[in-house]
This record gives sequence, C-alpha cells and structure tokens, in this order.
Amino acid sequence: MAQSVAIAVLRERAAGETRVAATPETVKKLTALGATVTVEAEAGLAASIADADYAAAGARIAESAAAQGADIVFGVQGPEIDVLAGANPGAWVVAGLDPFGRRDRVEGYAAAGLEALAMEFMPRITRAQSMDILSSQANLSGYKAVLIAANLYGRAFPMMMTAAGTVSAAKAFVMGVGVAGLQAIATARRLGAQVSATDVRSATREQIQSLGAKPIFVENVAGIEGEGAGGYATEMSPEYQKAQAELVSSHIAKQDIVITTALIPGRAAPRLISDAQIATMKPGSVIYDLAVAQGGNVEGSVPDQVVERHGVKIVGFSNTPAQLPADASALYSRNLFNFLNAFWDKDAGRPVLDEEIGNAIRLTQGGKIVHERLHP
Ligand code: NAI
Repeated sequence: MAQSVAIAVLRERAAGETRVAATPETVKKLTALGATVTVEAEAGLAASIADADYAAAGARIAESAAAQGADIVFGVQGPEIDVLAGANPGAWVVAGLDPFGRRDRVEGYAAAGLEALAMEFMPRITRAQSMDILSSQANLSGYKAVLIAANLYGRAFPMMMTAAGTVSAAKAFVMGVGVAGLQAIATARRLGAQVSATDVRSATREQIQSLGAKPIFVENVAGIEGEGAGGYATEMSPEYQKAQAELVSSHIAKQDIVITTALIPGRAAPRLISDAQIATMKPGSVIYDLAVAQGGNVEGSVPDQVVERHGVKIVGFSNTPAQLPADASALYSRNLFNFLNAFWDKDAGRPVLDEEIGNAIRLTQGGKIVHERLHP
C-alpha cells in the first residue's frame, strides 16, 4: 500500500487573519481518506478551536515547522516561503494565494519546486461549487457587512411605532448582486430595511425581486445579458459607466446604508461612488466597501479603516470574513476537504487532479510558473 499523504495545516500569520484552513470535522474526514494531518499549534485559536480538539479528531500538533515532511500544505492566505521549509519536493500549497497581488511569492513557490494551487481560481462550474472559497466567504461577508454597517449607523433599521413616535425604516442600497450582494440584501431585509439593489448583469434583476428588494437598473444602455462569462462581470463601456453614474447620483442621495460588492476578476474593482456623490448623502449614512482590497468601489475608502467624508462613514475592512472566524473557517475548511475528496485516487492513496480544474488553479509546477494568466 502507498504511504499515506501528509497534510499540514498552518497557523495563519497575516495581520488580522483569524481563520484556519481545517477544523476538527475536516481533520476527521481527511484522516478517514487515509491522510495523516499535522496542525500547527494554536492554528485554530482565533476561530475558537483548541489544539486539544484537533488532537481528539486525530491530528498531530506541531509546535513549529508544521510543513516539515508535508505533501500538502493547507492555508487560508498564501504562506510566505519560509513557513514552507521542509515540505516535500513537489508538495501542494493549497490556499487563497492572491496570484496577481503576490506574484513575488508565487515565484518563490516555483523556485522552491512546490506546486501552488490557487483556490480562488476554482472554475465556476457546477461540480466545483462545493470547493468555491470565493462563494463561501463572500456569502458571510455580505451578511457581516450589513451588521457592521447597522452598528455604525446612529439610527434603527426597522420601522418602529412607539408611544414616543415613529422611527422610519432605513433605506439600504446594495451595489453588485453576486454572492455577497445577495446575502447583503437578505440580511438588510431581515433587519427591516427598505432595500434596493443594482448590478450590470441583467440576470440579477429577478434575484433582487425574489428577495423582496427593488431593482435599480440602467435602462438606456445594454448591460451584460444573461450571466456573463462564467457568471462574472467585465469592464463596462464608457457609455454604460456614464449612465450608471447618473442613475446612482439620483438614487444615492436618498439612501442611509450602501453596501458595495462589485468586482471584475483580474482587474481593479470598478469605481461606483464618487466623493461628489457621497457629499449628496445625509450625514450619518454608512457606506461599506467590500471591494476595498481590490482598489475599492468607493472614492476615499481606506483599507481597514472607517473614515468619515461629508458626515458619511465609509467602512473599508479588507478581510470581512475574518470577522466571523468560526463559520468562515468551517466553510473554508469544507471547501478544501471537498476539493481533495473529489480528486482522491484510492489506488494512489492521494489526490490526482484532472485537466480542467488542474489547469485552472495550478500556478507552479516543476520549478516554473505554469498558469496562463500569470504569463506576460
Ligand atoms: P463578483 O464577486 O465577481 O462580483 C460581485 C458582483 O458585482 C457581480 O454580481 C458583478 O456582476 C457585479 N459587478 C461588477 N461590476 C459592476 C459594476 N460596474 N456595477 C455594478 N455591479 C457590478 O461576483 P460573485 O459574487 O463571485 O458571483 C458572480 C456570479 O457567479 C453570480 O451569478 C453567482 O451566482 C455565480 N456563481 C456561480 C458559481 C458556480 O456555478 N460554481 C459559484 C459562485 C457564483
């Protein structure tokens, strides 16, 4: 029988990162596949998971050098190269690797002979849905963004009729109705806000309505019909951008809460709200820019800060899923388990990728950068 595959689960080192790439539940499942799992000491602490819980699930706890002898290394964010010292030749590095932002690190993985697998490049195909880290984390981000905005808002969300008078419902506007935006709409509705939403993809109109929110769409210039390529948006024409800016200008002045989530894969986030538009909003309004780490949808948003412009608070937390460490880790860890499980080759006793998904996520192999999107 083949020697069992060694999986290492790292303690995250990036500032503000609270998540972990395996839970006792997934350790148990990985062990059942035939892998041995080593978890770095205190890896789960910020996600409320004690070392003893991992040990009880069958993991070995490593005080240091967790990657020593590993065939597969699990991370949430891409590990720096020194953390991977001692990993076996050709070991897989499975994490959200930020391939465009941290190309230097990808080059390091190649030079070290590691096989880096960028989980955020998972294709949007039905069979890969359960391995999709962008979706699992964006859903939680959409929820938490609304709660944080509600906390910073000096008024209530629901309409309340009290003996002392009526409190009117907050008006919330969600820009970008992908996974995060849909959850933001649902959460704001549950809290009692009056919700409207917009997107460039026409397919989202019905989704907005089915959640009880009002669609606000550019009518005079065509957007993206249907789902768009792989469900993603592309950059819009200058004509569309102008029409969208006019539409937003007339709508935004009446909003109390704005959640922006718009992203374009491999590009800077589209600018959706200008400083001049913010100036038309009521003082005390709150904008949450979920795209801040990709350059921001909102002029003036600052990563990891709440700034105030024209009396409007602009929230720019760059790692919103890290604000729900336990659930974010649970879902992320299942994504990684589902990924290995789907490709587990019983005879080989290890995972073997197929071409479609392998080519989509593999950044480095045999000492080289092999991903087409990273070639000049
Ligand atoms: P995303 O995070 O890339 O973007 C968020 C939203 O912003 C998208 O709806 C996009 O259309 C919108 N947007 C982009 N530019 C904009 C602009 N200028 N103005 C307004 N909105 C703009 O998207 P996400 O959340 O990753 O989902 C995109 C689609 O993929 C959804 O339809 C989702 O249902 C689908 N999907 C499919 C999966 C699968 O089949 N495996 C898995 C996950 C999502």
